[in-house]
Amino acid sequence: MLVGFLFLLLVSDEIHSEQNCSYQDVLNYLNLTSSNELYSMTRPVKNYKNPTLVSLEVLLYAILDVIEKDQKFIPYVWTVTRWNNEYISWDPDEFCGIDNVSLPTEILWKPDLTIEEMTEKDKAPPSPYLTINNKGEVEVQNDQVLVSTCRMHIYKFPFDTQSCNLTFKSITHTAREIRLQPSDNSSEATEWSREVMRTQYEWLFIDMIVTANNATISTDQDLVIYTITMKRRSLLYIVNFLLPVLFFLCLDLASFMISDYGGEKLSFKVTVLLAITVLQLILNEILPSSSDRVPLIAGYCIGIFALMMLSLLETIFVMYLRQKSFQDTERDGCMIQESIKSNKESHDWTSGGFVYNVSSSETGEILPGAKEVSIQSLSVHKNQKCKRHRSFCELIY
Ligand SMILES: *[C@@H]1O[C@H](CO)[C@@H](O)[C@H](O)[C@H]1NC(C)=O
Ligand SMILES: *[C@@H]1O[C@H](CO)[C@@H](O)[C@H](O)[C@H]1NC(C)=O
Ligand SMILES: *[C@@H]1O[C@H](CO)[C@@H](O)[C@H](O)[C@H]1NC(C)=O
Ligand SMILES: *[C@@H]1O[C@H](CO)[C@@H](O)[C@H](O)[C@H]1NC(C)=O
Ligand SMILES: *[C@@H]1O[C@H](CO)[C@@H](O)[C@H](O)[C@H]1NC(C)=O
Ligand SMILES: *[C@@H]1O[C@H](CO)[C@@H](O)[C@H](O)[C@H]1NC(C)=O
Repeated sequence: MLVGFLFLLLVSDEIHSEQNCSYQDVLNYLNLTSSNELYSMTRPVKNYKNPTLVSLEVLLYAILDVIEKDQKFIPYVWTVTRWNNEYISWDPDEFCGIDNVSLPTEILWKPDLTIEEMTEKDKAPPSPYLTINNKGEVEVQNDQVLVSTCRMHIYKFPFDTQSCNLTFKSITHTAREIRLQPSDNSSEATEWSREVMRTQYEWLFIDMIVTANNATISTDQDLVIYTITMKRRSLLYIVNFLLPVLFFLCLDLASFMISDYGGEKLSFKVTVLLAITVLQLILNEILPSSSDRVPLIAGYCIGIFALMMLSLLETIFVMYLRQKSFQDTERDGCMIQESIKSNKESHDWTSGGFVYNVSSSETGEILPGAKEVSIQSLSVHKNQKCKRHRSFCELIY
C-alpha cells in the first residue's frame, strides 16, 4: 500500500516534470524574447483607443537632505508602477501553477514617467527586473534618490514646516494614451511611509498627501502629486544658536559690573560682539539669500547685535566723558600745583628737585612733609581713583 502510494507520487512527479514547469516555457508560450518587437516597441494595447491605466505607489524611505540655501530636497523614495499588457496572459494550470515571471526591464514597453521637480538624474541604477503575472499586469519597483527642487519658506526658521511636491507625469503621452492614477490614498501612503522610514535627517516626517490631478482640456496629462510635509527638529538650533546668542547678551549685560578704568570693559564688550558676528556668519551659510521676507531669526540676531552695540557705544561714551572730566580736573590741579610750585621755587629752590611718589601710599595717606609734588607725580596719578585725586588736590590746597 505504502509502496504503491510512493510509486504514485513518483509517477505524478514524473508527469509534472514533463509539463511546462519552467519560466522559459512561459516565455516560449508568449513568444517573449528580447528580439520580439511586439513587446518592447509600442504601447501594449490591441486597440490604440484604449488608454493604458498606470497606477502609481510611492513610499518615502528616507529624508536624506534638505538644503535651504539651494532650495533642494533630497528624499529616498520607493516607487511601484503597475500597468496592463494586453498581449500577456497565460493559464497558470498549464504551467505548473506559475503565475508570475521576472524579466529584464528592457524587454517590455514601460510608461515614460518622470518627476517634474527632479533636477538631477538618479545616480542609483534602476531596478534590472520587472514582474509580469498571468493576467497581463506588469509591475516595476524602483528605489531612487531624488534631487528635487522645493521652494522653502524659512521665515520661521528653525521652527519651520516645509512641504515639498513630487509631481509624477508622463513625458510625452497624453491622457488619451496613459491614465495615471495613484493606487494608495493619503492615509495609506503616510502610514506605510512611517513604517518604512529609515532616517529623517533633522526632520520629522509629518505626512504625505496624494493628489490626483485628472487631465482637463487645458492640461491634457494626468498628474499625481505627492506632497511631503515635514517639520524641522529645532532643538539643536536652540541649543547651538539661540541660547548662545542669549548668553552673549547676558555676558554683555554682566560686563557693566566691570570697572570703567582700564580698557578691559571695552575689549570684553568688543569680543562678545565679535562672537555674535561669527554666529551671524554661520546663519548666513544656512539661510538662502533669496528669501523675500527677513527671517525671524535674522531679526533676533540683529536685535541682540543692536542691543550689544548700544551698550558698547554707551561704554565708549561714558569713558569719553570720564576722561574729559578727568582731564579738566587734572588741568585745574596742575594749574593750582604749578602756581604753588612757582611760589615755592621763588622761595625755596633747593627742595624743587624732590619728587614724592605719592602713589606708593595706597591708603591715601601722604608722607609727612610732602608738601610739594611735581607734575611728574601727577601724571603717575592719572589712573588713580578720582577720590584720591580729589583728596590729593585738597591736600595741595
Ligand atoms: C507545454 O506548452 C506547449 C506550448 O504551449 C504545449 O504545446 C504543450 O502541450 C505543453 N506541455 C504540457 C505537458 O502541458
Ligand atoms: C509565436 O511566434 C510564432 C512564429 O514566430 C508564431 O507562429 C506563433 O503564433 C506565435 N505565438 C503567439 C502566442 O503569438
Ligand atoms: C509570484 O510567484 C511566486 C511563486 O510562484 C509566489 O510565491 C509569489 O507570491 C508570486 N508573486 C505575486 C506578486 O503574485
Ligand atoms: C504642491 O501641490 C499642491 C497640490 O496640487 C499645490 O496646491 C501646491 O501649490 C504645490 N506646491 C508647490 C510648492 O508647488
Ligand atoms: C484609504 O484606503 C483605505 C483602504 O483602502 C481605507 O480604509 C481608508 O478609508 C482610505 N482613506 C481615505 C482617506 O480615503
Ligand atoms: C480622476 O479619474 C479617475 C478615474 O479615471 C477617478 O476615479 C477619479 O475620481 C478622478 N479624480 C478627480 C479628481 O476627478
